[in-house]
Amino acid sequence: MYHLAIVLPCSISVLAQEPTQAFHNANQLTEPEEVRANEIQPPELVMDILGIRPGMIIGEVGAGHGRLTVHLAARVGDKGKVYANDIDPKAIDYLKARCQRQGIKNVETILSLSVDARFPENTLDLVAMILSWAPVEDPGFLDRIKESIRPGGYIVFEHVIQKPQDPFPPGVHALVPGALRDLFRDFELLIYREVEDYGDWGGPSTPHVRMVARKPQLRQ
Ligand SMILES: C[S@@+](CC[C@H](N)C(=O)[O-])C[C@H]1O[C@@H](n2cnc3c(N)ncnc32)[C@H](O)[C@@H]1O
Repeated sequence: MYHLAIVLPCSISVLAQEPTQAFHNANQLTEPEEVRANEIQPPELVMDILGIRPGMIIGEVGAGHGRLTVHLAARVGDKGKVYANDIDPKAIDYLKARCQRQGIKNVETILSLSVDARFPENTLDLVAMILSWAPVEDPGFLDRIKESIRPGGYIVFEHVIQKPQDPFPPGVHALVPGALRDLFRDFELLIYREVEDYGDWGGPSTPHVRMVARKPQLRQ
């Protein structure tokens, strides 16, 4: 569940156009079982790298227990919103309870369908898909995600790549090398990297892909 990867290479803030406001009580958002993951992938750093700023409307696919969701919500603030989806009703219940407990009011949880994120159309400034286990190889699923992003909005993506000699079990949707670049050829690719390892998360090293892409602006 918490076998997450580092989202993006540090020191690249592709989205930042104005300074972000750090959430002052970020530690209070962390659940005890997230401490190790947060040491490897500090949420505040991820928010900085992504340039998450007040007022943004974010969609998060596969939010799970909300390790990143709560930090996204804190950063976008009262004027922003996070649509956090998951196909697991237990994860959604947990996340709802967590938001209530932590006084977070700008997260809308969505019990999604495996092939439909159920995000609002043409709305999102950014979609985050961080090892969501969603059917990322399915163009129909991705088309609905793309439709939810406003023109000029972004998608941030991290996912495992399938090694032919070491296949993932059924249910884990892995990409073959190069697949994601092809699936997003209608977007502007800002970062596209396939890397061999994504840090010591306690399991075997697994190649994965990191991508940031922007939806084209509407033509005048
Ligand atoms: C590795 S966990 C990631 C959890 C979360 N991002 C975090 O930081 O804790 C993967 C999550 O993706 C969810 N998931 C699997 N398939 C999905 C789909 N088609 N749409 C949305 N979520 C999905 C799983 O239920 C699980 O909660």
